[in-house]
Amino acid sequence: MGVSEGHRELTAEEFAELGKVHCDIWRNPGVVSQQRALVDGELARLRTGESLPVFNVLQGLVAKIKPAPESILEVGAASGYYHEVLRLGGWRGRYLGLDYSEVLIECARRHHPDAEFAVADATALGDVGMFDSVISGACVMHILRWRTALSEMVRVSRGPVILHRTPIAHGGHTRYWVKQAYGASCVEQHFGEAEFLDGLRTSGLLVVEARDIGDAGMFMMRSYLCQKE
Ligand SMILES: C[S@@+](CC[C@H](N)C(=O)[O-])C[C@H]1O[C@@H](n2cnc3c(N)ncnc32)[C@H](O)[C@@H]1O
Repeated sequence: MGVSEGHRELTAEEFAELGKVHCDIWRNPGVVSQQRALVDGELARLRTGESLPVFNVLQGLVAKIKPAPESILEVGAASGYYHEVLRLGGWRGRYLGLDYSEVLIECARRHHPDAEFAVADATALGDVGMFDSVISGACVMHILRWRTALSEMVRVSRGPVILHRTPIAHGGHTRYWVKQAYGASCVEQHFGEAEFLDGLRTSGLLVVEARDIGDAGMFMMRSYLCQKE
């Protein structure tokens, strides 16, 4: 999910103001076809056995969880493609994908009829039940109340939580941006690693392993396998 351009840096105060409103891009029906076309191409390559670090890192971290989780909740699942990524990585089990965008969840249901999906906000997961593991990729970076989202993931997980595709700013300090994606604007934050690790710790998570997916220039894309303390 990587169609973005035109980053403009914000102050923390501007981010706090703009971040009060959900990014409309994820609820825009026009986004879905563009996003899905991108993903379909990547999934086709993954099916042929091609190595794609962004997917292989998640597959590798899930494979590290012993015993293998019987159920996985994904928060910010978009059109549900990580369900197939997990299957291609050999994981079998119950999968529920959540996203606050109704149009993305409808698309997920069409493409992955053997998985479960529901509309929910990461900062208020409600009564979704308990899962052996929770995964979330490139989602909390868009959420002003990202610490609340982490606490919610911890609340509904019996075991490990994976924060996949986390942008870690070069230079150590969190930076805030507004960007254009799919023709609309959206805020995001690239975390200073110390601040992100503090968020994990205060949510009750201990990092077991961190893996780099790649350097995106402005930040390192990193994934964290965490255990509940
Ligand atoms: C950049 S996409 C990442 C999608 C996918 N997880 C991945 O790694 O490719 C961010 C996703 O998070 C979702 N999202 C953003 N804020 C959310 C929130 N507060 N609650 C639930 N989902 C949210 C968006 O709708 C979108 O599908």
